[in-house]
Amino acid sequence: MDFYILTLFPEMVMNGLSASITGRAMENGAISAEAIDIRDYSHDKHHHVDDGPYGGGAGLVMQPGPVVEAYEALCERLGKKPRLIYMTPQGRVFDQELAKELAKEPELVFLCGHYEGVDERALELICTDQISIGDYVLTGGELPAMVAIDCISRLVPGVLHNEDSAEEESFQDNLLEYPQYTRPEVFRDMQVPPILLSGHHQKIHQWRRQQSIIRTLERRPDLLETAQLTKKEREFLEELLKERSGNAAADTSKMYNEEADAPELHGQGADRSKLHGESADKREPNSAETYASGPDGAGICASGPSTVDPAISAALPDTDGSVSA
Ligand code: ADE
Repeated sequence: MDFYILTLFPEMVMNGLSASITGRAMENGAISAEAIDIRDYSHDKHHHVDDGPYGGGAGLVMQPGPVVEAYEALCERLGKKPRLIYMTPQGRVFDQELAKELAKEPELVFLCGHYEGVDERALELICTDQISIGDYVLTGGELPAMVAIDCISRLVPGVLHNEDSAEEESFQDNLLEYPQYTRPEVFRDMQVPPILLSGHHQKIHQWRRQQSIIRTLERRPDLLETAQLTKKEREFLEELLKERSGNAAADTSKMYNEEADAPELHGQGADRSKLHGESADKREPNSAETYASGPDGAGICASGPSTVDPAISAALPDTDGSVSA
């Protein structure tokens, strides 16, 4: 895959992409990246590429000439017209599906805007796609282009050493990734879920899928609508939902009355370290990993407060802390 980036800040893009995995992929030839300086196509003796907007208003607009000529010169050199993606907050929001689609192209050109954007006529002439990386406004399109290139690159064969890992991670089947653990086995009194040490690959796979479902339900329930689940997994989800709605009222009173001193739960991040930091004597035995029997009878670990919404934890059946054989 060959990436071309039309930009006013070529070093910024090349410095960013030359690091880490994309840098290694450029060295081994799995991808290439070339930043093209739009300023080189300015006809102005001061190399200006922008001017005030017609009709008035603040800021500067990138002129159409240098942008269009930079792209046309590239097309002439390549002997074809690759897709040209204009990075803008007004574009289609970038996601894994779009990354997969773009990863099939042999070449991609990214146009990075600055100031108040690019003259609309340039976009009409050369732009095939407009992409946003999220509902916020950055100072230019370089970082968004680097985000998209990084994400697309890891789907290109030969970029990741372990080809499997591109498939295994977040958004596989529209589910978030399961929690990961590495050495040491016990860290600050927190034990790695024993099932991961059991060597039982089928049960580990099942546990991970269930953790992905729990995590997606907690953090991105919108993804579950289109998640690809087996019949058993769907039953597992339905059980979680049923238990959760059944326990919601009880849980709320528990949180506001009995646990008045408990840390407030804001989103997914800040609260978790506090919960992990809770002193060992205050914790229930095995509360860091709540083992339960899943709806299909398999032993599951709901990982207590570290991965599971308190409402879901409370909803899961009682635990014995063991791994079912
Ligand atoms: N340029 C400025 N903000 C942007 C965004 N959110 N996505 C893509 N390009 C941008």
